Amino acid sequence: MTYWNDSLKNGSGPAYHRLADAINQAATDGTLLPGTRLPPQRELSFQLGVSIGTVTRAYDLATRRGDVRAIVGKGTFVAKPSDKGPTNLRINLPADVGQGVELAEALSRRAADEFLSYIPFGGSQADQEAGQCYLKLGGADNLPGDLIVTAGGQHAFTTASMVATKPGDLILCEPFSFGGFLDFAKATDRRVMAIPADNKGIKPAAFEQLCAKHRPAAAFLMPTAQNPTGTTLPPNRRKAIAKSAITHNVMLIEDGLYDPFAETPLAPLITLAPEHTFYIGSLSKTLVPGLRVGYLSCPPKMRDAANDLQHLLGMGPPQAMANIATELMESGAIARLVGKQRKEISWRHTLANEVLGQHPAKGIVAAPHYWLPLPKFWTPEAFVAAAETEGVLISPASHFAVQTPSAHVRLALGAAPNRAILEEKLKALAGLLAHPPSRTGRSV
Ligand SMILES: Cc1ncc(COP(=O)(O)O)c(C=O)c1O
Repeated sequence: MTYWNDSLKNGSGPAYHRLADAINQAATDGTLLPGTRLPPQRELSFQLGVSIGTVTRAYDLATRRGDVRAIVGKGTFVAKPSDKGPTNLRINLPADVGQGVELAEALSRRAADEFLSYIPFGGSQADQEAGQCYLKLGGADNLPGDLIVTAGGQHAFTTASMVATKPGDLILCEPFSFGGFLDFAKATDRRVMAIPADNKGIKPAAFEQLCAKHRPAAAFLMPTAQNPTGTTLPPNRRKAIAKSAITHNVMLIEDGLYDPFAETPLAPLITLAPEHTFYIGSLSKTLVPGLRVGYLSCPPKMRDAANDLQHLLGMGPPQAMANIATELMESGAIARLVGKQRKEISWRHTLANEVLGQHPAKGIVAAPHYWLPLPKFWTPEAFVAAAETEGVLISPASHFAVQTPSAHVRLALGAAPNRAILEEKLKALAGLLAHPPSRTGRSV
């Protein structure tokens, strides 16, 4: 295990993370064959001159990544393909860029009394200020009025949508939209209608026409790194859409969860139509979803109603989680981790382009989700089923379609446990793309 010693001496970042990376490397490049037993933790800590806690955390991380498997009473073994199960690229998760360390440390500092109370109504002053700083990372600056600290993005947009609309109302949205929003609309009896879009996002002229003709109450939009299509609305379209919203008194529910993925932030709609926009941010895609911390900015005249409603819908995150977010914001850790996440996703995006043979237009934001067009001989459903047999779970376009389906599938690039597994799975998908589906399973 001398090479582990080298990676511990020479690498950067916490020792346990470097050790888990070295295990991953050895398991991926074949230095350690599947089924090989790793040394007992105490023995390895002695050999490497690190604490046993470091080895335990490294083995835990390697287990979570699927690189090793612990068998009670027997030890820890390099995972075999049959141990690993499929790689789930259906859920948009942030890539592991080491955020676990900062979170674990912040969690270990929590005092019991942080759990003894509720979060103050709308969030404490410090948490709201941390939220303002976080939203600035995505370009949302000088927001009108106080923020509301929410239990993530879903809580925030549900609150905004219920304040901005009532049952029976029409909400416009992109032709392919976030499933959580579509489920919300269905469950609460809001009608949805797709705004025609192209590879730059929704078309302003079409938005203007729909506003004039159908008198929608609101529009739910993701202008940057739209989920699932990855399109980013250029500034001139943003201006035109904000203008139509003001003219027709349509409330914009701007889901800005992916705004921090832009290297140079674009002005969000809320900065262009502050009296008509609810703006939503969350740490779920840039840091971790498990904290359940998000932020909602409201048009000032609707802030009180939104705050009452968010309280009714769940009261916001646990205070301890809001405190962790605020502490990591104040220390600069979140800004640093967001930068790392953006870089990692951009790297994964380039890899996906190379392996899958896509050539997206230059200058777009590298989204953590990848909207893959399929050749004519594949339907999305057949491709998803074939991908599953290759050990990779992906989503068909129908999961996001508002009205018309499309020959695409969505891959959540951040959800792969590491780059090597992502590459292996992308290559398996590229293999499928190259040939029509096999007909051998056909019924006769
Ligand atoms: C566009 C969009 N909005 C909101 C959410 C929900 O975010 P949260 O986990 O913060 O509730 C997601 C999660 O996938 C999303 O993609």
